[in-house]
Amino acid sequence: MKIITTIEQLTVHITAIKKANKSIGLVPTMGYLHEGHMALATAAREENDIVIMSLFVNPAQFGPNEDYERYPRDLERDAKIAEKVGVDFLFAPTVEEMYPTNGGIQIIAGPQSKILCGATRPGHFDGVLKIVTKLFHLTLPTQAYFGQKDAQQLAIIETLVRDYNFPLAIRSVPIVREEDGLAKSSRNVFLTEQQRLQAPVIQQALDLAKRHYLKNGDILWATKLATEHIEYNATGKMDYLQMLSYPDLTEVTEQTDKVLLAAAVYFGKTRLIDNIIFQRK
Ligand code: PAJ
Repeated sequence: MKIITTIEQLTVHITAIKKANKSIGLVPTMGYLHEGHMALATAAREENDIVIMSLFVNPAQFGPNEDYERYPRDLERDAKIAEKVGVDFLFAPTVEEMYPTNGGIQIIAGPQSKILCGATRPGHFDGVLKIVTKLFHLTLPTQAYFGQKDAQQLAIIETLVRDYNFPLAIRSVPIVREEDGLAKSSRNVFLTEQQRLQAPVIQQALDLAKRHYLKNGDILWATKLATEHIEYNATGKMDYLQMLSYPDLTEVTEQTDKVLLAAAVYFGKTRLIDNIIFQRK
């Protein structure tokens, strides 16, 4: 595996790969790799000639009071993990390399970005689209891999690719969980012992909501029960628990096929998200 830190080096490799007519699987990450990231890389390894993983804690997607500074970073550890799962190139640029200028041109996410996580994180998805667009242009992937863990992010990136004709396919990978059901996340390391014990309640609540909804079709009742389940069983503070149609993220109607049940809960300063996507009929 080669570790690349500059765009110039990256471009030399991409040009050679394209010339050899090889397919490229891109796995964008912010590092501090865990089994969730590894599942994306494994899928990319199976489906492409060359696997490129990017590792960049993207300042553009963090709000002023968010955890950009304290986001966990460990390049040496990540490089070992990436190599083990068969990554060919690890692209780990500096902020100056990725954002040398501020030309003022912005990519603004649409209505899908104003709700769920977007409601408390204004500009977050604009920042995600900014880095993802740059990575797509720099690596020219045949396929790019994203986790269902960040379902709203996935839906918004799928919309970008569809509406702006990016010549690549988006591949989604199911959520990888701890044994007790907690979705794997780089932020789980911030949880205290007590918070860590309580955190699986999010997934339990989402399951509860799904079962109730499929039984009686009442969204309000199902989401209320699930919210109460979290409030009763954890000290965490609810941000949201909502059910929307997927991938457009609008209200569920009779026409809706796929449903997203998503939740975000603050455990102290640490905000955990989780979701389930299921067929309504
Ligand atoms: P990051 O949080 O590092 O996640 C990188 C990718 O791993 C995302 O596509 C995310 O959905 C996926 N992922 C994280 N935890 C997962 C889990 N438990 N199971 C399955 N997939 C999981 O998401 C980002 O970084 C950034 O926003 C990024 C897309 C890299 C842009 O900066």
